[in-house]
Amino acid sequence: TWTSSNIIDEQVAAIRSVVGDKQVICGLSGGVDSAVAAALVHRAVGDQLTCIFVDHGLLRAGEAEQVEKDYVAATGIRLKVVDASERFLGALDGVTDPERKRKIIGREFIRVFEQAAREVDAERDVEFLVQGTLYPDVVESGGGTGTANIKSHHNVGGLPDDLQFSLIEPLRTLFKDEVRALGTQLGLPDEMVQRHPFPGPGLAIRIIGAVSRERLDVLRQADLIAREELTAAGLDRDVWQFPVVLLADVRSVGVQGDGRTYGHPVVLRPVSSEDAMTADWSRLPFDLIARISNRITNEVAEINRVVLDVTSKPPGTIEWE
Ligand code: XMP
Repeated sequence: TWTSSNIIDEQVAAIRSVVGDKQVICGLSGGVDSAVAAALVHRAVGDQLTCIFVDHGLLRAGEAEQVEKDYVAATGIRLKVVDASERFLGALDGVTDPERKRKIIGREFIRVFEQAAREVDAERDVEFLVQGTLYPDVVESGGGTGTANIKSHHNVGGLPDDLQFSLIEPLRTLFKDEVRALGTQLGLPDEMVQRHPFPGPGLAIRIIGAVSRERLDVLRQADLIAREELTAAGLDRDVWQFPVVLLADVRSVGVQGDGRTYGHPVVLRPVSSEDAMTADWSRLPFDLIARISNRITNEVAEINRVVLDVTSKPPGTIEWE
């Protein structure tokens, strides 16, 4: 029968026999899957694993620290952090088109990760790369079923030919809720294990308009308030995701005290979903919406209006870009 401790024991044994005394790397994104995959591999081979965290500067408040501090404290994993926010912001400067944002972020990410992987490889002669592929990803990409828990093949997407690693995918038979249970069993911080899905391009696709450090700071503050209030209301598990979107090129007139303001709106986009293919807007309690709105407009000077997205998917997507 399925229990997280069975899975851990099985996977640890399997990983040990595949890896032997070779060196392993793993990229951490801040998300659940890579965090659990790395923790599992660390349990199996300890310091033969080096993790790489590329901080692209587009994460939400506290998320980079969660990886760099809490996760490392919980696991004892050796972590190489690359602060690449300057580089990502430079590459994104003035870019407003959603697909261009995605392309630029994807391209820069591979370049930065590749460089970091090369450095680790030069020091330790790396043989394996861990990926947090889940069962639904395997099915989606036509990988089929019944294969071994750990499948190795070469030429990992995006990495150049002369930088070849064999893949270790210890989560490829598991669903998300099983991965979360595993993460808890492995002692990972709750905020990380229960984290809602978050897009790779991060807050860049939640700023409608060009991305800048100032705009990211504004969005981070509003996003943190929404998350805090959702958690305080005990409703984290009731929503699939809760994007907060900054309409950076839109301004509207407001009034505060005696003064007229001319600020930006944010959109609250809480959605309910099973798999992100379709979604409905979450019927969050109005008093919760009101608290979030009051706090954002009181605490974030640049925001003077909060609106609620009441569009299902389709026709709307979950993200605004
Ligand atoms: P949409 O907006 O298409 O999003 O309804 C569906 C799910 O995918 C996430 N998403 C992304 N994830 N890179 C990612 O890793 C992306 O470029 C990206 N765009 C959307 C989104 O957060 C939702 O969970």
